[in-house]
Amino acid sequence: MIIDKFNRIHNYLRISLTDNCNLRCFYCMPDEDYAFTPVSKLMQAKEIEAIAKSFTGLGVDKIRLTGGEPLIRKDAADIILSLSKLPVKLTLTTNGTRVHEFIRMFEDAGIQSLNISLDTLQPEKFLLTTRRDQFALVRKNIDLLLEKNFHVKINVVVMKGLNDNEINNFVTWTKNSPVHVRFIEFMPFSGNRWTSNKVFTLREILDTIEKDFEIETLPAEVNDTARPFKVPGHLGTFAIISTMSEPFCSGCNRMRLTADGKLKNCLFSKEETDLLTAFRNGEQLAPLIFESIQNKYASLGGQMNTDFEHLHAGEIKNRSMITIGG
Ligand code: 5AD
Ligand code: SF4
Repeated sequence: MIIDKFNRIHNYLRISLTDNCNLRCFYCMPDEDYAFTPVSKLMQAKEIEAIAKSFTGLGVDKIRLTGGEPLIRKDAADIILSLSKLPVKLTLTTNGTRVHEFIRMFEDAGIQSLNISLDTLQPEKFLLTTRRDQFALVRKNIDLLLEKNFHVKINVVVMKGLNDNEINNFVTWTKNSPVHVRFIEFMPFSGNRWTSNKVFTLREILDTIEKDFEIETLPAEVNDTARPFKVPGHLGTFAIISTMSEPFCSGCNRMRLTADGKLKNCLFSKEETDLLTAFRNGEQLAPLIFESIQNKYASLGGQMNTDFEHLHAGEIKNRSMITIGG
């Protein structure tokens, strides 16, 4: 088992398949001319499988594939099928634009749950946020997943002045659809135009929802980073991921592998461990994995605290979100 200094068991690995994406969300990508990592520097399909096996051998039983956009990789289907044979619960975070091309293979791979990123229910605002006119396609693909009985979580990054006025529209969506909306507090990453006054906190989100709805608190799952709620009678639920105002690091069980094969022990870690180069040199990965997790900070990569109002994004040393994968 992979256990850190704070006795947190790390059984959950998030693997980024690529730092490329077919959308251009401003809070995720540094700019339009961002240079994507050349393919030779990315983990190849066989390498992903082998490195993932090192982790499952150490007790990892949940893997999430992320990006960039994982489904734009040409060999995405092969990678998904190979990982689905490991003894893990396999899930995926996607922007939803390619879901219709993959839905059959998701079923074949036994994937039951997907997270779809969607920050607005307004087509024009979608275009403004992602710089691509794909709202209708994403929305249709969400319905397709629901029709096929997938468990669908909708990731909404809430930014004050941009989409905080849509929170209750998302909650209304849960009335007749079994969607699980997750409101995420806006987090700072390299080049993402974060300022503290754009953070819309857990408290503010709940206050907004309480104006129109009755709220019931649901029991949180172990290690879950989201606090779950529902409106009584609604088919779906909503949850809040309060990384900035009330982080949940004490129950953290996550590790992240970037598309170029670097292990990050935290979303906000400064340090990285180069597993891909070690693997290509024929080295054992387990000692490197243990060392990385032993060096994990108690919370937020040791780089922030809940006093985010006084935080200057420039002081944080990290990658841009598109190269981490969420
Ligand atoms: N703050 C919070 N969440 C973010 N995501 C991307 N960038 C940020 C940010 N700056 C979310 C995306 C996606 C998930 C992988 O991470 O919406 O759903
Ligand atoms: Fe692409 Fe997701 Fe980043 Fe948007 S948030 S640019 S969809 S990876």
